[in-house]
Amino acid sequence: MTQPTQHDEGRIIIFDTTLRDGEQSPGVALNHTQKLEIAHQLARLGVDVIEAGFPIASPGDLEGVSRIAREVRGPIIAGLARAGRADIEAAARAVEHAGKPRIHTFIATSPIHMAKKLNLEPDAVVERAVQAVTLARSFVDDVEFSAEDATRSDWDFLVRIFQAAVEAGATTINVPDTVGYTTPDEMRRLFAHLKAQLPAHVILSSHCHDDLGMAVANSIAAAEGGARQIECTVNGIGERAGNASLEEIVMAFHTRRDAYPFATGIRTRELYRSSRMVSRLSGMPVQPNKAIIGDNAFAHESGIHQDGVIKARETYEIMNAELVGREAAVLVMGKHSGRAAFRKALTDLGYADLPDDKVQYLFSRFKDLADRKGQIYADDLRALVEARTDVPQT
Ligand code: KIV
Ligand code: ZN
Repeated sequence: MTQPTQHDEGRIIIFDTTLRDGEQSPGVALNHTQKLEIAHQLARLGVDVIEAGFPIASPGDLEGVSRIAREVRGPIIAGLARAGRADIEAAARAVEHAGKPRIHTFIATSPIHMAKKLNLEPDAVVERAVQAVTLARSFVDDVEFSAEDATRSDWDFLVRIFQAAVEAGATTINVPDTVGYTTPDEMRRLFAHLKAQLPAHVILSSHCHDDLGMAVANSIAAAEGGARQIECTVNGIGERAGNASLEEIVMAFHTRRDAYPFATGIRTRELYRSSRMVSRLSGMPVQPNKAIIGDNAFAHESGIHQDGVIKARETYEIMNAELVGREAAVLVMGKHSGRAAFRKALTDLGYADLPDDKVQYLFSRFKDLADRKGQIYADDLRALVEARTDVPQT
């Protein structure tokens, strides 16, 4: 697979950072075997880049990235490094056996980060960035440079540091919304501005956090402004409120092709399996109402909706569950369910030929039961049908 360039108009590179930023979710720690299992699944899913870890963080992290680099073929394998020699050398060692290695180096560019965290003047930050990219390029051809806290940075300063990084050899320029502060409109304008200032061969990338619940919207807006790489995680896991959710971005592009002229290389039928695996191995449950992969994402409860989907799924489904690798939509039987769904549930359980008056009677008993019990399962329905009660004669 050759890496798409900015000239492949509309092809978005999916950079998955589940194993790096995702693993920075409080409470998550994956061992090597778990990381490798997820990395193989990410390759099956069709991501273009796997950010496998932060090699300087610990010998274990370096070894984990190194195993993925040796064993997973297909995607580019990236290791993260701060803009310093030790970090970059560790990242270079970790990815050296990858079929397609990348070093991803970063330094903060916002006034608050430069003054309070780095204690560096802007000129010194640019110098460090250039040194870091130059050193990284001495190990690999594929170097990504990120300006941490870019969305709270001065735009002229961003252009300056990005131009310097590109001249030093960076091939991808990443714009992180590190603290989830930006808005879609701001993101679209920032990317359009950067695209106009940087050479056309540079791949612009977005990296959004979800502190205000806008990570996916901001990532899509970045693509509209000119981003050709989006960094995201499976299930949206990551620091604090998490990162942009891979499955939501991919399905937004897929479902709204009319609105967004973008395509990814993701095999959408692998989305659900990937989500389940990441949830199981990270120990982070997925909220039931999470778009695309939550338990309720394709479940219909109300009678009106159930009646609609029995007649035509498109009435209340904008995408098929099967497309993301799930079972067909479920009709949840409860007090909001109507006759049509009740009849269908009985038919699915093998009671297709019950007379109408019997179904009518069972339906009223089902409603009483649902009032008392909430959700009604297949066994409850079987018990209702099999109960030795005759339909009362009026
Ligand atoms: O959020 C962030 O700024 C990051 C960078 C290291 C890319 O994760
Ligand atoms: Zn991040």
